[in-house]
Amino acid sequence: MTTGSYIGISTMKPCCRILGSYKSSSLFGFSPTKFKDSSSIMGIMTKSCHPKSCHRHRYHTCNSDTQIVGYISVINPNRRDFSVSDPNWGLSRSFSTRFCVNIGSIRPRVLSMIPNVASDFRNQSTSVDSHSNDTSFEKIYIQSGLNTKPLVIQKIETDQSELEEVTEETSDGSNINIHSFKDLSDNKVKKELSEIEKEAWKLLHGAVVTYCGNPVGTVAANDPAEKQPLNYDQVFLRDFVPSALAFLLNGEGEIVKNFLLHTLQLQSWEKTVDCYSPGQGLMPASFKVRTVPLDGSNEAFEEILDPDFGESAIGRVAPVDSGLWWIILLRAYGKLTGDYALQERVDVQTGIRLILKLCLTDGFDMFPSLLVTDGSCMIDRRMGIHGHPLEIQALFYSALRCAREILIVNDSTKNLVAAVNNRLSALSFHMREYYWVDMKKINEIYRYKTEEYSTDAVNKFNIYPEQIPAWLVDWISDEGGYFIGNLQPAHMDFRFFTLGNLWTIVSSLGTSKQNQGILNLIEAKWDDLVGQMPLKICYPALEGEEWRIITGSDPKNTPWSYHNGGSWPTLLWQFTLACIKMGRPDLAQKAVDLAEKRISVDRWPEYYDTRNGKFIGKQSRLMQTWTIAGFLTSKMLLENPEKASFLFWEEDFELLQNCVCMLNKSGRRKCSRFASRSQILV
Ligand code: GLC
Repeated sequence: MTTGSYIGISTMKPCCRILGSYKSSSLFGFSPTKFKDSSSIMGIMTKSCHPKSCHRHRYHTCNSDTQIVGYISVINPNRRDFSVSDPNWGLSRSFSTRFCVNIGSIRPRVLSMIPNVASDFRNQSTSVDSHSNDTSFEKIYIQSGLNTKPLVIQKIETDQSELEEVTEETSDGSNINIHSFKDLSDNKVKKELSEIEKEAWKLLHGAVVTYCGNPVGTVAANDPAEKQPLNYDQVFLRDFVPSALAFLLNGEGEIVKNFLLHTLQLQSWEKTVDCYSPGQGLMPASFKVRTVPLDGSNEAFEEILDPDFGESAIGRVAPVDSGLWWIILLRAYGKLTGDYALQERVDVQTGIRLILKLCLTDGFDMFPSLLVTDGSCMIDRRMGIHGHPLEIQALFYSALRCAREILIVNDSTKNLVAAVNNRLSALSFHMREYYWVDMKKINEIYRYKTEEYSTDAVNKFNIYPEQIPAWLVDWISDEGGYFIGNLQPAHMDFRFFTLGNLWTIVSSLGTSKQNQGILNLIEAKWDDLVGQMPLKICYPALEGEEWRIITGSDPKNTPWSYHNGGSWPTLLWQFTLACIKMGRPDLAQKAVDLAEKRISVDRWPEYYDTRNGKFIGKQSRLMQTWTIAGFLTSKMLLENPEKASFLFWEEDFELLQNCVCMLNKSGRRKCSRFASRSQILV
């Protein structure tokens, strides 16, 4: 049933319950312009908030499949930067909302309610001003400002009847869809499936999590024999990406759309570690669908989305990559389904801007690369990757390239778009110039002079040649090269990190020659980087004292295990994509064949241990969803390379030209299209 109405404040029970007083003062006591600095608002709240209770109000209640995007922000005091006082924000879009309430059982029932509220307020706009006469990197800055553009409230067009859905109750009461969904697009890849693929599809569908009857993601691992699920029963944003691609390549778009919109709603949720809140654009690492009593009653239940922004995660690590993956997936969704309407929605555009704002805001940085803490990506434990790790830079670059395509350009976004373009140029230059190593470059570093004080220094980061590790001297081959793991003053992390290197290829962060060089190196070092199970997360492992100091004696990250040189089959789909892009599907096929020999027999492990990936990882989960989905995605990409082309980027000469022009400003390079093609940049 669809009923025209406004959203009603009264419908947001859980949030009102928790912070009623904050709600009323913030909703009605201030005008939006006062909220330019959102942290001050939260300051008011958190001061009166006991540390232990600060993170209680983080649930996203189940307003069902009607995605009133931003609905929560009107009435949820936990969300920042809002107000109802601006008349421009009044919306009168028609919609219905269905509350998913489970009465007397954990099976959801759908009730209709007519909400009634003036507007939604994903109203935080990001305006980026670049000085029109000065395009230098340093002069581009971002201002947080408020824009009075209203949010378009839409619903996910989900018709229950369209789902051939069979749900099963899991031990914790959440519902898991065990059968496939009706195809929502006609681009389904048709072919005869092998037995292993059939098994993988069954497992992947079995990992689907539903929220109020609709598929919204996949659990990280789904091994019924596992006694301690920890948070592996949650939907991780990064883990869902290969699931999403498998679904999209199979013509199942609905779950991906739902995932994108639900996680978008979680984006601006108030989150705290003790009494400190990270930025508003942060996307959660994971979320869980919980079934809770409705209003304390044991008669009725409702489902809620409970996100984890790192405040519960082991080590309290910030999931910097989540937002980047979200943007990457959003673009992939559009490309593979042809449904570009989703990315054009105002709330989705605002979500992108919030993520970008968080990434592009000025800090103390001297470099265009993102400065992050340890554990902020797939490697979500201390592994000595704090600073400017390659993985984050490659995903950042990829997300910026997506944003460049997706962002709607208008008066309020043109400066942001300019900042995105400038950052892309600066970042690719920085990475190509300073992160790339091959035999020649290492020899150069070996002969570096140090303590050079000038803008013309050759050894800009003051790298002491003595830090070239002994393993590298023997390991580096004449074939190709790679992007190092990290770069900081007097520090180059020479470890080979696979995900980052693969994404430099996929996004064209590297030059075409560099990208080819990475694959050449992987081929030349096959035994080290692929071994018996593709692919090593990083090479080599930290051992002895280094392991003790850098990992903090982490018993899970012992040498050649888990993040410390373990082998992760989920990297296979990204390898496949990179190989297809570079015209080397043979390499990918070889890796897929290798995986296929063991992966199902071994029950789809999360990771493998030992130097060559011989054993199933000591603490590895089984039935790991991104292992399963990564395998399926690799298979489908190899069978449909034309679909792969939707997922990678070629060199963008406009960005190069921009970079050359900026460098020219400092008298370093000639500015012309020809120059951009002829520089070391290419
Ligand atoms: C581990 C991995 C992380 C992954 C999570 C769920 O923590 O390091 O990358 O997202 O498991 O699978």
